[in-house]
Order: sequence, then structure tokens, then C-alpha cells
Amino acid sequence: MTGKKCLLLYSGGLDTSCMLKWLQDEYGYDVYTLTVNLGQEEKDWSEIESKALKLGVKKHFTIDAQQEFAEKYVSYSIKANSLYQGAYPLSTAIGRPLIAKIAVEIANKEGINVIVHGCTGKGNDNVRLGVGIKTLAPNIEVLTPVITWGMSRSESIKYAEKHGIPVPVTVSSPYSIDESLWGRSIECGILEDPYAEPREDGWKMTVNPADAPSEPEYIEIEFEKGIPTAVNGEKMSLVKLIKHLNKIAGSHGVGRIDHMEDRVTGIKSRETYECPAAITIITAHKDLEKAVSTFQELQFKQLVDERWTYLAYAGLWFDPLREALEAFIDKVNLKVNGVVRLKLYKGHCHVVGRKSDWILYDKNIATYEEASTFDQKSSLGYINIMLQQSQLAYKILKKHLT
Ligand code: ARG
Repeated sequence: MTGKKCLLLYSGGLDTSCMLKWLQDEYGYDVYTLTVNLGQEEKDWSEIESKALKLGVKKHFTIDAQQEFAEKYVSYSIKANSLYQGAYPLSTAIGRPLIAKIAVEIANKEGINVIVHGCTGKGNDNVRLGVGIKTLAPNIEVLTPVITWGMSRSESIKYAEKHGIPVPVTVSSPYSIDESLWGRSIECGILEDPYAEPREDGWKMTVNPADAPSEPEYIEIEFEKGIPTAVNGEKMSLVKLIKHLNKIAGSHGVGRIDHMEDRVTGIKSRETYECPAAITIITAHKDLEKAVSTFQELQFKQLVDERWTYLAYAGLWFDPLREALEAFIDKVNLKVNGVVRLKLYKGHCHVVGRKSDWILYDKNIATYEEASTFDQKSSLGYINIMLQQSQLAYKILKKHLT
């Protein structure tokens, strides 16, 4: 069988390397491979390419999508203060629709109508890639060898040994890792016991807060229309700024996350992440947004942010609701301009100051000093209106219930 083409989302790891060989030998595919750079540290892109070529791939694509990822995906995570279930900054989740989009573009260009990935059926990534690819290209078939062919890790190792596929040392790592600019997910192994504290060997981007410097570090982040544009006065592209903050905040142990998470597959799982830049930036953004927006805007935006976060988490990125929500998010963020001062210290990141030409804080109104322009007497009438229904309800309930 020749002429059947497929595009494999290739990480260079054991599972997708075995798939590469398997798709050719057992299924007769001409295999094309795609590796997307979302800012993972320590990846050797040319080594991944040469490994793919050695394993017989027809053509390999390495796409550097860092800028697009930062500007079109991470930027909304920032503007929406995105923390799924109050904890997870979506570091893995928001990369998937971009990978799906790039894969579909390449498949269309190369006349390929089968896309293969190595996700398991238990996680969200399989859903995100499947939903993303099929939304953009209903005619493309998505193959999931781990799920459909039951290719387990130990089988992969056996298969690799039999076919001379180099088994990397990292296979001995007990964790399943996923990484991007926006953070790192660490799953499996000892972490499957939700009561066991994550071991130090799982963390890479963050130092143990106990070993972090004993002096706090102060940083200033400048925002323009909700997007961070400078650190300590130095302007940087968003990609560079995030990488820079990953280093600074990580060196203070900021950004370790350990929480119970509800996956879209109905599984409740214990997830750990390290997202130093994401936690620092979202903390700062949220504070500045609060300073420049009205109470009404903020209350409503929480609902919008949560909905946006859910769409991104659940792989519904290409549903039109996302862009509709973003229109609102952008509108509010037009005012999010200013500087936030943060203190990084032993695993903590606190806002200690903010300033903005757009701030709704007016010292003349807020001050407790005599010079205030706020007429305190106006609060008295307000109380009478405010209490009306509660007072009546309290009286009536008391009559009937006591
Ligand atoms: N639970 C996270 C998410 O759904 C992390 C997924 C990690 N992925 C991985 N291939 N290890 O986004």
C-alpha cells in the first residue's frame, strides 16, 4: 500500500517515535511529521527533525509558533485573568487549538487527510485536538493510536527495542510532562496519590521556596491595553517578557500549583503545574484591571472570564462564542494601562503598588481626612433605601416563623 499519507504530531519522544515507525510498517502510510515550538525550554528542534528523518519520515515540519501563541492565545489568558477552577493558567490547554490549526494548514497544503496524535483517551488534550481539527476540517480523519490501538508505554518500549528506536533516558522519568511558554504540567507517578506532596524532582522552572533568596525582589510590570509590555522599564516582546518573568519569578519559587481538577472527560485528577510568569502576570493584570474598571464592569467580567476560560479548557476554542466574549474582554482592557509593582518572595507574589492615568481611585473622595469632597450625609439617605426590603422581610419572617 503506498500513496496513503498522514501527518503525525511529533514530539520526538518515545511514543510518537514508535508511532512513526508503526504507521509506516504496519499501516503502509507515508508519514509526515510536525513539531510545534510553543516556547518549550531545552528542546533541540534539529535533533527532533533528524530523529524523524532517521525513522523514515517523508518530510518534517518544525514550526516556530511562539509569537502567534503569545499574541493570540496567551494574551487572552492574561486579559481574561484565566485560571481554570481558580488555579490553572491553561498553559497546556491554549496551545492545543494552535497546534490543531497549524496541523490542518499543513495537511491541506500537502494534500494529507489523516492527522495522527499520541494523546490518551483520559485527558483533555485528545478532546482539544479532536474537536479543533474536526471543527476546522471535517474531512480530515484523526487517528489516535494510543486509544484505538491500545499502544501502551511498556508496549512502546518493547516495540522501540525491537525496531532499533532509541529509547531516551527521560523514559525513566516517572512523570508525564507538557511544556510551553506559559508553563509546565507535571502529571503521573507519585502525583497520582493526591495526599502525597509533589517531590522536588518534578519541578524544573521553580526553585523550592525554602531555598529561594531570603531577600524579596521588587519588579514593575507595565501594561498597555491589558498586555504586559515592559519589566522594570525595559520594553520587550511578549514572548521575551514571559520568558524573562519565568526566570525571575521561578528563581523565587513563584508559580507552583497543586490542585484537584475536573477534566472534560469526567475524571477528577490531581494536577501540578509550574507557571511562574503566568501567575505573576495574571496577579498583576487582575489588580490593575480592578483599579481602572467600575464595580459593574468587574462583576460582569468575572462571568465572561470564567466562560472564556472554560471554552479554552474544554477545547471549544473555535466556537464563535469565544470571539464574542473577547470583544467584551478587549473593550474593558482598553483601559488597562499602567504599572504594577510586585514583591516576589519565597514562593509568593504580591502586588504592593499600582499606578495608572486611568485609575478610578480619587484620593479626594476616598480619604478619611477632612479635606474630602465626598458628602458623607448622602450615605444616610442611601441606607434608608438600601434596607427597605430586608427590614420588611425580616419583620414578616420573624412573625411567621417564631
Ligand atoms: N490537565 C492539564 C490540561 O488539561 C494538563 C495536561 C497535560 N498534558 C500532558 N500531555 N501531560 O490542560
